[in-house]
Amino acid sequence: MGPEVMPLLENRNDIDLVLWQQDCACDRKWFLENVQGATAIIVMFGDKVDSELFEAAGPQLRVVSTMSVGYDHIDVKEISKRKIKLGYTPDVLSDAVADICIMLALMAGRNARESMAVVNEGKWPNYSWAPFLFCGRQLSSTATSQRTVGFIGFGRIAHATLARLIPFGYTHCLYLANPSSAPATARDAALAAQHHLQSVQRVDADTLAATSDVVFVLAPGGAATEHLVGARFLRRMKPTAVLVNASRGTLVDSDALATALRERWIWGAGLDVVTGEPNIAADHPLVKEPRCVVVPHIGSATIETRIDMATLAVNNALAAIAGEAMPASVEF
Ligand code: DGY
Repeated sequence: MGPEVMPLLENRNDIDLVLWQQDCACDRKWFLENVQGATAIIVMFGDKVDSELFEAAGPQLRVVSTMSVGYDHIDVKEISKRKIKLGYTPDVLSDAVADICIMLALMAGRNARESMAVVNEGKWPNYSWAPFLFCGRQLSSTATSQRTVGFIGFGRIAHATLARLIPFGYTHCLYLANPSSAPATARDAALAAQHHLQSVQRVDADTLAATSDVVFVLAPGGAATEHLVGARFLRRMKPTAVLVNASRGTLVDSDALATALRERWIWGAGLDVVTGEPNIAADHPLVKEPRCVVVPHIGSATIETRIDMATLAVNNALAAIAGEAMPASVEF
């Protein structure tokens, strides 16, 4: 958890600590062997938390605290059945992830990958400046065309991303929300007024795909959202539009996206997450696409944010151990 945060645990002489010492995902076998007898466990989003782990831990386990906002790695049915509490780290990472959403939208739209390769490979001398050389698509509104942003998932990170797009001159915001959630018309009107937008509107997937100049995928992972962005969605997007995914790889059908990029159904894509990560090789169909910018799940990877996430994860665990309300808990 880092030198800033570890003292919160180490200075407690009423707590026995069992630590995975390496700065990489915890080995499953080690985890199953060492979790036995734990009152609380602090995990990362790469650690599968399922009935096998609960059985290995034993019935005294009171809380699972994940250092992530997403919890699709946790068997929620099983954890609620066992009446184990679940802590997570919302809010503290919204700004860092929103920042990277804008970075990916700009990089994908402005052909960063292709143009940087020219420099990195020493080929710049072959390209003198020319009017349309390396031209991409503009993220901001222009004098003649207003911009619309579409969000798949409209929670805290989407709101933080929307706020960053206001100085880019966005006038319309569309979003796709969980079908079981109630319409939020008053909230949408307030958001539109706050940001001087002409509209904030919940729409269906077809409308969002066809109307947005940039689409941000920011909904939770899991079976309910798998392949929300597939061939049908991508076919409906504007050929000038950019897709950004900073949530979970499973929301986007990788094969369909690779086809969409290859056949120019859309302009480009910026991905912080890909299905199958971290086992994504250099010959992965998306990594091979020149208009696809892929970074290795670094959305929340700023030192400031990771310290805040680790602090919150520890405080969640300590509160639950003490029988107190956690600062950030998932309610079932
Ligand atoms: C999360 O918190 O869910 C991220 O994906 C990891 O930073």
